[in-house]
Amino acid sequence: MKLLKLTYLLIALVFFSCKNEPYEEIPTQAAGEYQNVPLSFEVPSNFPPLQYDIENNPPTETGFELGRRLFYEGRMASDNIVACGFCHIQEFAFTHHTHIVSHGVDGALGSRNAQPLQNLAFQNEFNWDGAAIHLDMQPIIPITNEVEMNESFTSIIAKLQAHPDYPRLFREAFENGEINSENILKALSQFMVMMVSSNSKYDKFRRNEGNVTLTANELQGMELFNQKCASCHAGELFTDQTYRNNGLAIDPQYNDIGRERVTGFPEDRYKFKVPNLRNVEVTFPYMHDGRFANLEAVLEHYRSGIQDTENVDESLRQTDGTLGIPMTDEEKARIIDFLKTLTDTDFIFDQRFSEF
Ligand code: HEC
Ligand code: HEC
Repeated sequence: MKLLKLTYLLIALVFFSCKNEPYEEIPTQAAGEYQNVPLSFEVPSNFPPLQYDIENNPPTETGFELGRRLFYEGRMASDNIVACGFCHIQEFAFTHHTHIVSHGVDGALGSRNAQPLQNLAFQNEFNWDGAAIHLDMQPIIPITNEVEMNESFTSIIAKLQAHPDYPRLFREAFENGEINSENILKALSQFMVMMVSSNSKYDKFRRNEGNVTLTANELQGMELFNQKCASCHAGELFTDQTYRNNGLAIDPQYNDIGRERVTGFPEDRYKFKVPNLRNVEVTFPYMHDGRFANLEAVLEHYRSGIQDTENVDESLRQTDGTLGIPMTDEEKARIIDFLKTLTDTDFIFDQRFSEF
């Protein structure tokens, strides 16, 4: 018995002494031998496969940090104010809270509502109409758009080169250390790829974590959602990533033709990307033009507001030809109860993604 105890003690000692052995000395920047530390990216177990080509641009500590700085950097815009984070506000899952359509430099009005930024690494196409087909390319649109940041890369690069911190941050983040458009876009992607929202009450329930259960109302709402909404808002991302017309009345002010703008096909007129619904409780106002202030209005649209416009999704038509998704008041309320289980406070308050 004593011998056994001693053996345990010895094993424990050996183990401990191994653990306490000094690590290889971490190279310091001061010594000129800075080494970039890769960040680990894990696909949540209930999620579909990753779409972003992470091997081509693996997030690292310094690349991510540079991306974060650039995301909140006013110098990325012509007025030195309108940073990405100006329109994409973390507490609202990176949407432009209270703004029906976003406004950019000099208060110029855009025509669309800012989308949430979350789980972007699981998507292939971006924007309401799919105008961007790679995450690394997406930021070129807001940066150069005259009603958003209205800036050019030449000018941004000059501003960053003259800044006290950026030359060092680029050297730390990228092997060639250059301040160029490629590295700016790569750093922004490293930051955005890490923005994974997968810790809502719903996720914990799905993964059977820590006895998290949904209430009877939420469960009933999930059931109803699966019957009435999940044909488009499908799977764990709550979008099948297709473009559809969900029957919104045409807004004469913008007459936004949606997907047709990208493809040129009349059969894509008024179709918009099916939005993911994670954190939907905080991403109001809703739809591509922010026309609905709250979820009650959204549900009422699906029940009674669907218009017979060009290319309206046929799945929204009942067998008797009327448009709409039949729901009682009670059912609408239960679906909203369920949608609120998609709020992920870990994500919207995650310090890693905040400005300061
Ligand atoms: C003036 C407000 C504004 C600014 C500034 C802005 N965005 Fe956006 N963002 C939007 C709007 C509006 C959309 C939807 C655009 C569309 O569909 O045409 C959007 C869409 C996106 C999307 C697509 C999300 C998806 O799910 O498809 C990404 C990614 C994005 N923005 C990242 C950025 C980055 C990075 C920056 C800074 C370089 C930035 N945005 C600056 C308003 C803004
Ligand atoms: C036929 C496909 C389809 C069905 C079915 C459907 N939706 Fe949608 N949903 C869409 C599309 C497309 C949009 C974006 C439309 C736009 O902005 O032009 C959207 C937008 C939304 C939005 C706004 C999200 C945002 O970020 O602005 C919410 C919320 C929503 N749907 C909830 C639901 C609920 C709840 C149901 C079931 C009662 C449902 N949807 C059924 C296709 C669908």
